[in-house]
Amino acid sequence: MKIIESSQNMQSLALELKSLKQKLILVPTMGALHEGHLALVDQAKQLGDKVVLSVFVNPTQFGAGEDFEKYPRPLEKDQELAQARGVDYFFVPKASEVYPAGDQTVVMVTELSRGLCGAFRPGHFRGVATVVTKLFLICQPHAAVFGEKDYQQLQVIKRLAQDLHFPIKIIGVPTLREKDGLALSSRNAYLNTLQRQIALKLPQSLQWAVRAVQQGEQESRVIKEKIIQDLQDPQIKIDYIEVVDSETLEPLPKIKAQARLLAAIRVGETRLIDNLPLKL
Ligand SMILES: Nc1ncnc2c1ncn2[C@@H]1O[C@H](COP(=O)(O)OP(=O)(O)OP(=O)(O)O)[C@@H](O)[C@H]1O
Ligand SMILES: [Mg+2]
Repeated sequence: MKIIESSQNMQSLALELKSLKQKLILVPTMGALHEGHLALVDQAKQLGDKVVLSVFVNPTQFGAGEDFEKYPRPLEKDQELAQARGVDYFFVPKASEVYPAGDQTVVMVTELSRGLCGAFRPGHFRGVATVVTKLFLICQPHAAVFGEKDYQQLQVIKRLAQDLHFPIKIIGVPTLREKDGLALSSRNAYLNTLQRQIALKLPQSLQWAVRAVQQGEQESRVIKEKIIQDLQDPQIKIDYIEVVDSETLEPLPKIKAQARLLAAIRVGETRLIDNLPLKL
C-alpha cells in the first residue's frame, strides 16, 4: 500500500492511472476505521482496478463546539487495517493540502442540505460537499463509495455529482451493524457501557417502525410519536425522527413506497444517526 500525503502527487497518480485505463475507486473517510469503512473498501474492490482510501478529518464539516479537536486519529492502526483489507493507496493529506492558504471556494447543495442533520449542524453539508468535490478532483475516481448510515450525506453527494457533471458513479453501501443492531460508527467509541446499552434503543425503535409499517401502519405521525415515547431516557436527547422520501428527503405524512425513516439522537454528548427503509 502506498501512502500519499500531497494532493499534487495524488492527482498526478490518478491521471497516470487514467491514462493506463485503470479504474480507481475512492473511499472517503475521516479515519478511526471500523468494519463499516472496510465494507466500503470491499465494495470498492469489486468496482474497479485500484482502491484509494482517503483519511481526512475535515475541519469545515465540524461546527463550533463539535468534536473536531478530540476526534480520534489512530493513524497507524488505520494504515494497518487498510493495508490488510487490500487498499492500494492511502491518501492522508494535511488540511493545508486540501484547503490552500487563502481559499475562498465552497460547494453547496442547497435543498437536500437544509433539513434533518443540516438543521442541527449548520454548515455541515457545505463542508462535506466542498471536501468531497475536492477529493473528486484530486483523485479523479471512476466511482466513489459511501455508506447508507449517513443517508442524507449520500443523497447530497449523488445530487452534487449530477449537478457538477462529475463522471463518477456514486455507490451506496448498506449500513453495517454490531450483532445487537447498533450501526457501526467511529463516534460509538465515545459511549460508556451504560450509554452503549441506551444507544441500542435507536436501532430497536427503527426496527419496530419497519414492522409496524409491514403490519399496515401508514401514518408517519403515529410512528414518530411511538418512537419518541420509546426513546424517553434521561441520557437521550432527540434531534429528529422523520419519515422522508428516500430521494428528495421531503417529509412524508403518509408512508408510501420509497419512504425512509431517518433519526438522530444524542446519548450524553455523543451524536448518533441511523435510518432504515420502510417497505409497505
Ligand atoms: N456502519 C457503517 N456501515 C456502512 N458505512 C458506514 C458505516 N459507518 C460509516 N460508514 C461510511 O463510511 C464513510 C466515512 O464515514 P466516517 O469516516 O464519518 O465514519 P463514521 O463511522 O460515520 O464516523 P462518525 O461516527 O464520526 O461519523 C461514510 O461514507 C459513511 O457513511
Ligand atoms: Mg461519519
